[in-house]
Amino acid sequence: TYKYDYLIVGSGLFGAVYAYMAKQKGKKCLVIDRRSHTGGNIYCENVNGINVHKYGAHIFHTNDKGIWDFVNQFVEFNRYTNSPIANFKGELFNLPFNMNTFYQLWKVKTPEEARAKIAEQVKELGLSEPQNLEEQALSMVGGDIYQKLIKGYTEKQWGRAATDLPSFIIKRLPLRFTYDNNYFNDKYQGIPIGGYNKLTEGLLEGIEVKTACDFFEDRAYWSSLAEMTVYTGKIDEFYDYRFGELNYRSLDFEHAILEIENYQGNAVVNYTEREVPYTRIIEHKHFEFGTQPTTVITKEYPSEYALGKEPYYPINDEGNTELFRKYSALAVKEEKVIFGGRLAEYRYYDMHQVIGSALKSARETIV
Ligand code: FDA
Repeated sequence: TYKYDYLIVGSGLFGAVYAYMAKQKGKKCLVIDRRSHTGGNIYCENVNGINVHKYGAHIFHTNDKGIWDFVNQFVEFNRYTNSPIANFKGELFNLPFNMNTFYQLWKVKTPEEARAKIAEQVKELGLSEPQNLEEQALSMVGGDIYQKLIKGYTEKQWGRAATDLPSFIIKRLPLRFTYDNNYFNDKYQGIPIGGYNKLTEGLLEGIEVKTACDFFEDRAYWSSLAEMTVYTGKIDEFYDYRFGELNYRSLDFEHAILEIENYQGNAVVNYTEREVPYTRIIEHKHFEFGTQPTTVITKEYPSEYALGKEPYYPINDEGNTELFRKYSALAVKEEKVIFGGRLAEYRYYDMHQVIGSALKSARETIV
């Protein structure tokens, strides 16, 4: 007999949602996390009353009413709407690309004028078969938008010249011919009132949790506690990197507390020129319409991944995809381990997607 029905490795959204569902079905779970806190990458730290997104800015959005209702059981959401600003060499533009952006670029005022301007710029370049990301983007939006708003930002994100990046990275570049600065098209959007930790705490309420516990420090012991293990860590690490390491892009965050009330007037400002080393500055209080006397800002620097750094974005190129396939061929054969979440599945998931995936996995595997 086992002490628990489930050992859940990782208290991020996948692990926490799975644990919640298991508890609903009367199962006993133990959740462990190697970090000193729960929540995985949605964790926030309270600094002077401001919820600081420690692992990158998180904005909740979904079109799925079921998922929206699910999260609203635990926490209410505010009316935050993501509308980033781009700063290119001191010039400001609204994002995503919309009529405001086109006015700022060319002083065009109607959708017809904007479409004509873009078509003219695309035509001028005469690119028929794009060979790389630069050509791909140019063939969709023309020179001005590409040079001012895409090139530098993308090159910083990937650490490579746009001409050395494959065109498939940019499949679509949505252009919006209305004066609408809402970054997302989803029906539901917002930030949890009281912070993301409240969502995590709601999910994990009444469930045994141990932080600062690494599964790999004694995997035999942890595994012996429960009949089944739900594993949400890195899949290559689970198999001791036997086929090699999966690669990621990472980020370095530089947080600063400023003794002023309002630094940039918006939660997200992208710096789209190559010469500025960070891609964006986040001012956390604006996610919550904060009125505190001080503010916290975070500069985001894209970086190479190495063991010991946080693996943020999977790189879905051929080599990594092939390597992941080898690991997942082992994973599907495991009878006592369920793999889930962004690290075990080596894929980028938005929050609503990882919640959907955990709900599905729980429904299919909890008997
Ligand atoms: P997550 O990484 O959160 O959790 C895994 C947990 O497992 C971690 O806590 C880790 O410590 C633990 N763990 C790993 N190995 C372990 C071991 N050996 N022993 C014990 N514990 C172990 N989404 C969105 O909808 N809107 C947004 O704005 C953003 N923004 C955003 C910005 C950045 C920079 C990133 C990287 C991601 C986003 N996201 C997002 C995506 C969002 O972060 C993501 O969907 C969820 O956090 C994924 O939850 P998981 O549970 O899969 O992983």
